[in-house]
Amino acid sequence: MCGIIAGISEEDIAPLLIEGLMRVEYRGYDSAGIATVHDGELEVRKAVGRIDGLERTQRASTLAGNTGVGHTRWATHGGVTKANAHPHTSCGNKVAVVHNGIIENYLELREELKQKGHVFTSETDTEVIPHLVEEALKRKKDPLKATLNAVKKLKGQYAIVVMFKDYPEVLTGARNDAPLVVGVGKKEMFLASDVLAFIARTDQAVFLDNMEAVSVTAGGYKVYRFDGSEVSKKPTQLAWELSDLSKQDYAHYTLKEIHEQPETVVRAALQDPRRLENFVRILKGATSVVLTASGSSYHAALLLKDRLSREAKIRCDAVLAGEFEDQAHFVERGTVVVAFSQSGETADLLRAVKVGKDRGASVISIVNAAGSSLARESDEVLTLNCGPEVGVAATKSFTAQVMVGNVVADAVVGENATGDAKKVGRLIAETLRSEDSVRQVAKEFKERPDFYFIARGHNYPIALEGALKLKELSYLHAEGMPASELKHGTLALIEKGTPVVVIAPSGEGFSATISNALELDARGAEVIGISDKVHPVFKHRIAIPRSNEKVAPILEAVPLQLLAYFIATERKNDPDYPRNLAKSVTVR
Ligand code: AGP
Repeated sequence: MCGIIAGISEEDIAPLLIEGLMRVEYRGYDSAGIATVHDGELEVRKAVGRIDGLERTQRASTLAGNTGVGHTRWATHGGVTKANAHPHTSCGNKVAVVHNGIIENYLELREELKQKGHVFTSETDTEVIPHLVEEALKRKKDPLKATLNAVKKLKGQYAIVVMFKDYPEVLTGARNDAPLVVGVGKKEMFLASDVLAFIARTDQAVFLDNMEAVSVTAGGYKVYRFDGSEVSKKPTQLAWELSDLSKQDYAHYTLKEIHEQPETVVRAALQDPRRLENFVRILKGATSVVLTASGSSYHAALLLKDRLSREAKIRCDAVLAGEFEDQAHFVERGTVVVAFSQSGETADLLRAVKVGKDRGASVISIVNAAGSSLARESDEVLTLNCGPEVGVAATKSFTAQVMVGNVVADAVVGENATGDAKKVGRLIAETLRSEDSVRQVAKEFKERPDFYFIARGHNYPIALEGALKLKELSYLHAEGMPASELKHGTLALIEKGTPVVVIAPSGEGFSATISNALELDARGAEVIGISDKVHPVFKHRIAIPRSNEKVAPILEAVPLQLLAYFIATERKNDPDYPRNLAKSVTVR
C-alpha cells in the first residue's frame, strides 16, 4: 500500500514529485524516495521516514531533470531501511523502478538474475523488477517491450513505473491488482497510484485496468494489454478538487474531516435517482444477499444488513472481505454481493468481488472513490460524495456510508424512515458541540491500557467502530462487543478504573444496556455514557441529541471519533499517519 507518483514535464519534475508524494503519504510512510534522469545520468535520493525528512536531509526537490519517479513506502518485504526504500535501480543504474504491491515469486527471480551476474543491494521483492527490465532491454532495445517482457515474469500484485537512463523521454507502467492512474496534463503526463498525487496539475485521468501497461511521454500516453496490443482509453474528468485537500485551520486532516460531517452526511444522501433505483432493483431481485467489506466499512455494512433483515425481511449475511473466499460456499448466480469501501482499492475486497463474480454473483457497491477498481468492477455504484479523505482513520467516509446505507434501506422499504438529511447534518453539528467534554474524558483516560465499548442491537456496530478508532489512533488495546456478551467472559477483565464506553441512546434496548452498565459499575468500571439521556451510572456522559434509531449510530460515531483523536494527540501520536497503517490496504 505504497504511494507512487511519476511524471514527465517541461518543468523540473522533482518539486512536482515531492508535492505529489505529500498528497499520497497516507498510503505508507516508512520511507520515501525519488529519482530523475538528467544529462544522461539517473540520480536517486531516498531516506527513511516521512517525505519532509527526505526533503530536509536530501533536498530531493532540487534534483534536476524533467523525467522522474517517486515513492512513499509501507514496508512489506525487508525492514524500514534506506537500502529498502524505493526507487530501486538496476546494476548499471540504467533502470529505476517504483512499485506498490507484492511480487510473490521474487526469490526465484532473484536467484535466476544472480546467476546472470546481477547484484542486489536490498531485501525487497521489488528490486527484481529493474534487473528484469535491464536484462530485457539488452535484447529488446525498447522501453515498452522490455517492460512487458519483465512483467510477464512477475507473479503477485503490482503497480509499477519504470524510468530509463538511456530513454529519458519516456516512462512505462503496468498494473495487476493494484491501482495505477495516468494524469493527462498540458505538455506533462503523470503516473500515480492515486489521483490525489497529480490533482494539483490536472483533473483529467485515465484509469488502467488489470493486466494493462502504459507508455507516456510529455505529449501523450498509449495503453496496451500485456500481449502488446493497444487499448483505446479516454481520460475522465475528476470530481475532486485541490481545495478539498487543504487542512483549513485544523491541526490535522482527521479533525477537519470529523468537522466536515454536518455537510458530508447531507451530500451522501443526494444519490442519483436512476442509480439508486437500479441498485435497489438489483438488491430486491437477489436470491441471497452478502454484504462484505473491511475495517470501518464492514461496520457500516453491518448497519445496512440489520435494517434490510429487520425492516425489509431480506435474509442477508455480512462477511469480512478477507474471509469471503473461505465462506463463499452459498454464493452463486442470483446472489448479490454488496461491497462497501472508501478507497475502492482494498485488496481483500477486490478479491472477494472477483470470487463472487466468478461464482456468478452480481456486485453492487457503495464507494467514495468513483474511479476506483471496485467501482469499475461493480454492476451498480452509489458514491459517498464526501470528497477525498486523507486521515488514515475513516471518519466522514464512515458516517457517509451509514447514511447511504440508510438511503438504500429507506428505498427498499419505500419509506423515508431516516428523515431529512439536512436535519441529520444539524444533529451532527449539535453533537460536535460536546467536543470539550470529550477532550476532558480523553485527558483523564489517556493512560488507561484497556478500553471496552458496549452497545446493543442496532448500535452494536458502533461499539466495534469506537474500539477500532481508538486502537488505530491511540495504539491502546480496545474491544467492542455486544453488551449482552459481557457476562459470558469479558466481565472477568473489568476491575477498578477500567474505562467502558456504554453506547445507550434512548429507545429500544436502553434499559437493558443500562443494566449491563450497572453490572460494570458494580465491579468498579469507569462508565462513560454516550447517550441523549442522563443516568447516574454514567460517571462521564458525552451527550448526543435525541434522534431516531436510523440516525443514532451516526451521532454516536462522532464523539467516538473525537475521543480517539484527543487521546491520540494527548499521547503525542500523529492522528493523520498512525504507525504501521495506511489509508488504502492494497495488499492481501
Ligand atoms: C478505518 O479507519 C481504517 N482506515 C480501515 O479499517 C479501513 O476502514 C479498511 O482498511 C477498509 O478500507 P476501505 O473502506 O478503503 O475499503
